[in-house]
Amino acid sequence: MLRDEQKLIEYFADAPDDISLSDVNLDHLPSHISVIMDGNGRWATRQGKERGEGHIAGISSLRETITACVRLGVDVLSAYAFSTENWKRPQHEVDLLMHLFATTLLKELPLFHQENVRLVFLGDIEALPEKTRDVFEEGLAETAGNTGMVLALAVNYGARAELARAARTLAARVASGDINIEDIDEGAVAASLYTADLPDPELLIRTSGELRLSNYLLWQLAYSEFYVTDTLWPDFDRWELLRGIKAFQGRDRRFGGVKA
Ligand code: FPP
Repeated sequence: MLRDEQKLIEYFADAPDDISLSDVNLDHLPSHISVIMDGNGRWATRQGKERGEGHIAGISSLRETITACVRLGVDVLSAYAFSTENWKRPQHEVDLLMHLFATTLLKELPLFHQENVRLVFLGDIEALPEKTRDVFEEGLAETAGNTGMVLALAVNYGARAELARAARTLAARVASGDINIEDIDEGAVAASLYTADLPDPELLIRTSGELRLSNYLLWQLAYSEFYVTDTLWPDFDRWELLRGIKAFQGRDRRFGGVKA
């Protein structure tokens, strides 16, 4: 993806001691970076605040991550915002999150346009409260023509539900005679997922130190490099992103093969 070198250098000025833009190879960036934004609740609790304050603070981290990825020229940024299991949270927290998704998205639409970002959703957004769903659909329609970075927000997303849905889609296509059983190969499965049009993530970043996938992109993360940081999501910033990219660039990726 094209990037504005001047804007990039400005955005990554004032570097901390341990990391700077020159520590990463700009010609070898992950094309798709995915983030599991974890630790909002703990961040708030540690400060004697309500958990919701952590989610509100987390919005700034997401905004900064979006801008940083645009500046770097990353093709796709995806973020796990709400899982199919998150409905188990107290109703007031679920309500707040749904409200934050809607209001934040509306507010950020001009930024998405300015940065040429195209929004897509991973997950069953039909099942969301009406107001949130309406804003999401507006966001999809309004940014559909943007040609820059794709921002994929996983909302009401669960990888097992996604795979079961793909199985139903493929079974229906066989039943209708559209395809044969033999046509169901890895490509056909991949094409039946929410991520059909996206490359697999090359780098997965998880904040707050948790070493698990939490039902996120189980198929798509098969060969992704993981970067887990103890930083809680509301403290995540452009520098922590660079640390993740630097770690990614230090990995020896063999995809199950051997080095030539
Ligand atoms: C995980 O932290 C975070 C979430 C479930 C919500 C993430 C949402 C945001 C960052 C707001 C983003 C806004 C938009 C518009 C997508 P947690 O609550 O699980 O934290 P804990 O593990 O410390 O309890």
